[in-house]
Amino acid sequence: MENHELNQPTVGIVGAGQMGHGIAHVMLRAAHNVVLLDTSQALVDAGAKRILKGLARDVEKERLTEEQRQHAVARLKTAIMSTSHPANSTGSGRSSPFPNLDFSALDFIIEAVTERFEVKASVFQVLEPYCPAEAIFASNTSSISITKLAAATKRPTKFVGLHFFNPVPVMKLVEVVPGLQTAPETVDKAIALAASAGKTPVKVNDFPGFVSNRVLMPMINEAVFCLMEGVADAAGVDNVMKLGMNHPMGPLELADLIGLDVCRDIMLVLYESFRDSKYRPCPLLEKMVAAGWLGCKTGRGFYTYPRE
Ligand code: CAA
Repeated sequence: MENHELNQPTVGIVGAGQMGHGIAHVMLRAAHNVVLLDTSQALVDAGAKRILKGLARDVEKERLTEEQRQHAVARLKTAIMSTSHPANSTGSGRSSPFPNLDFSALDFIIEAVTERFEVKASVFQVLEPYCPAEAIFASNTSSISITKLAAATKRPTKFVGLHFFNPVPVMKLVEVVPGLQTAPETVDKAIALAASAGKTPVKVNDFPGFVSNRVLMPMINEAVFCLMEGVADAAGVDNVMKLGMNHPMGPLELADLIGLDVCRDIMLVLYESFRDSKYRPCPLLEKMVAAGWLGCKTGRGFYTYPRE
């Protein structure tokens, strides 16, 4: 990280998948320094490959010059991390598991790993001993409590939700979610980071599903009920919402893009948090997840997709 330019934040992004690689892409496009982490070389390489492809596309579409692309590529660093947390470890006196990276330059960590509290909490706990005390920790969770995640770290005042939308390079919104403990200056810095990456931050409070998934997921779930009950076939359900409501994608097509497992997990968070049966995941959604039909990423969901 020695060659990184001054005055540009350095952002560690954990998770090189659909959301993580997209967040890394927009941060690099904004001339920020990025360290992309995941649990294996193969995952990091796959994410980096997609980022490079996206940056090349930005040049084709004249969103970046060739020179800016080359600078962006040079600002991308990658590393492998394990989410297993050695018992009773404090980090002091321990050699860093990231010998080639100087974590002291990190301004933000944005976590974009699987939508499970334990996995997300473990990411922050593993990284915390190596990060500067002033670094802000952010989670891209789509529904888990920011307050609870913040409490699992030693810096609850410097913890915030930064919820990006898929496909990240295209969607303007970032929900900025303070937990109960989050300091106002942390929120200001998170808003500034999202805005610097060309996004429109909207501050919302920490309640299950925030605003986006509190409204979107029950609609998707209800669309799956319509399909299950034979109200219409998948194309029929989607066409009603596209042609009648001007939605860019139908709810079932959108569920395939988001991932049916992610949709089911978010419905479960709503269901368990509010203890209200209106949030129960549709049995057909559960069945498709059990079959491994998770949407675009597995080649089959409500529709079928050519594998990459
Ligand atoms: N991944 C990456 N990029 C994509 C993409 C995808 N799946 N689909 C389209 N794009 C890119 C295209 O490559 C194109 O980029 P260029 O400018 O480089 O050419 C750009 O998006 C526009 O694509 P199209 O011309 O094909 O435009 P479109 O009119 O078909 O729009 C869309 C595509 C933007 C995806 C549009 O269909 C849309 O807005 N759909 C709804 C998406 C949505 O609701 N996302 C939020 C999901 S919820 C979430 O993410 C949060 C959560 O917690 C679950």
